[in-house]
Amino acid sequence: MGNRYAIVLAAGQGTRMKSKLYKVLHPVCGKPMVQHVVDQLNRVQLNELITVVGFGAEKVQDHLGEQSHYVIQEEQLGTGHAVLQTSDILADKQGTTLVVCGDTPLLTSETLQHLLDHHEKEGAKATILTAHAENPAGYGRVVRNSSGDVERIVEHKDATGEERSIQEINTGTYCFDNAFLFNALNSVSNDNVQGEYYLPDVIGILKQEQEKISAYQTPEFTESLGVNDRVALSQAEKMMKQRINEHHMKNGVTIVDPDNTYIAPDVEIGQDVTIHPGSMIDGVSVIQDDVTIGPHSTISNCDIGTGTEITQSVARDSQIGARVYIGPYAHIRPQVNVDDDAKIGNFVEVKKASVGKGSKVSHLSYIGDASIGSGVNLGCGTITVNYDGHNKHLTTVEDDAFIGCNSNLIAPVTVGKGAYVAAGSTINKDVPAEALSIARARQTNKEGYASKIKATKKD
Ligand code: UD1
Ligand code: CA
Repeated sequence: MGNRYAIVLAAGQGTRMKSKLYKVLHPVCGKPMVQHVVDQLNRVQLNELITVVGFGAEKVQDHLGEQSHYVIQEEQLGTGHAVLQTSDILADKQGTTLVVCGDTPLLTSETLQHLLDHHEKEGAKATILTAHAENPAGYGRVVRNSSGDVERIVEHKDATGEERSIQEINTGTYCFDNAFLFNALNSVSNDNVQGEYYLPDVIGILKQEQEKISAYQTPEFTESLGVNDRVALSQAEKMMKQRINEHHMKNGVTIVDPDNTYIAPDVEIGQDVTIHPGSMIDGVSVIQDDVTIGPHSTISNCDIGTGTEITQSVARDSQIGARVYIGPYAHIRPQVNVDDDAKIGNFVEVKKASVGKGSKVSHLSYIGDASIGSGVNLGCGTITVNYDGHNKHLTTVEDDAFIGCNSNLIAPVTVGKGAYVAAGSTINKDVPAEALSIARARQTNKEGYASKIKATKKD
C-alpha cells in the first residue's frame, strides 16, 4: 500500500442551515457531522488527515483538536479552491488522496475502503464515489459517454434539462492520484453559474487529458446524504438513528420502539438489555448485560452495571453498579458512584456522592457532596445540607447506619458506623458509631386540652 492522505472539506459557511453554529458542527445523533466523517476516515489507514476550515475555524479546531491538521480557506471560492489550500502540505507528495465533505455524516469506513480498493485495482487517476438517487435535485450529476465511461460531473445549477434527468449523483467523495489532482486543480476555472472553483471539474479535466477515470457506485444512497439544511439534518438524524439501533438489535438488545429511542454512536450496550420508549443514551456510555432502561430515561456518559434497572430517570457522568434500582423520577447528577445492589428511589437527587453496596435512598431526598457507606438506609426526606452559601461541605454516613425520615445532615458531619439518627433530626455534630442521636424538639402532650381550644371558638 502506498501513501494515503485525506482532505475533509469543512470551510463552507453553511448559509442554508441559517444557524449561528458552523455547519459541520451540527450534531447528528449527538456527534458533530465532521466528527462522524473523521471517525470513519480514521478507520482506513492514512498517513495524514487535513481539514480545510474557514469561517468559524477555531470552533472546528477546538472540537477536532489533534485529530487533524488544518489549513484555512480565507474566502469560500469553491470546493476546488478549498482543496488547493492544502498545496503547501500535499502538492509534492506521491500517493492516493481521499477527499470527503464534512457534511456527509452517514458515509462509512467500509464504503471508503471499497472506494480505495476499487481505485487501486483500476489504477485510475481519479475515482468518484457515486450513488443512484431517486431525487437527485441539488447534487452534481455523473455524465457518462456512450460506452458508459465517466466523462465529467455537472453541477445541478449548471445542468441542462437532459442532464438533470440523470440519477447517478456525485456523493462529493473521491480518490485521486495526488500528483494528478494538484496538476488538474491549476486548470480549474470559475466560469460557471455559481462563479466557484468546482472540485468535480478535475474529473472532466483529467478525462480530457486521456487519464483513467473510474466510478464506484455505492449501493446505499443513504450514505451519500449531504446535509445542507435542517430538513436534510433531520433526515440524517433519522437514518443514523436507525443504523445505530439496528446494530444494537442485531447484537442482542431489545429496543421496544426504535423510532422512539435515541442512542449516540459511541455507546456500548451488552446482551439482553431492554430499552423502553422515550429513552436517550448519549456520550460514551457503557451499558452492561441484562440492564433495563426506560421508559423515558436519559443516560449520558454513564457506566451501568449488569442487571440494573433505570426507570423514568436522568443520569449523567456517573458510575452505576450492578443490580441497582433507580427511579422512577430520580436525578443522578455528575460524579456519582452507586455501588452494586443499591436503590435510588422516586424523587431522589444525587450529586457528587458515593452510595455504598446495598444502601437505600428510597424516597424524596437530596444527597450532594456525600460519602454513604454500604448497607445504609437513608429514610424518606433525608437531606444533606451541603452548602453554606459560599462553600460545599462533605457529609459522611458510615456503613450500616440508619437515618430516620426527614433528617437534615448539616455538613461537614459524620454519622458513625451502625449509628441511628432519629426521624426529624437536624444533625450538626458528628454522631459516634453505634450511637442513637435525637435532635428534635421534645413532644409534650396536654391531656384534655382540645376541649379548651374548642370552647374559645364558640360564638
Ligand atoms: C457538492 C458537489 C456536488 C455533490 C455534493 C454532494 C461541488 C462543486 N459540488 O455540492 O457535485 O453532488 O457536494 O454532497 O463540489 N466547502 C469548502 N469551501 C468552499 C465550498 C465548500 O470547504 O469554498 C466545503 C463545505 O463546507 C462542504 C463541502 O465543501 O462540507 C461541500 O460544499 P457544499 O457547498 O455543501 O457543496 P454542494 O452544493 O453540496
Ligand atoms: Ca453539501
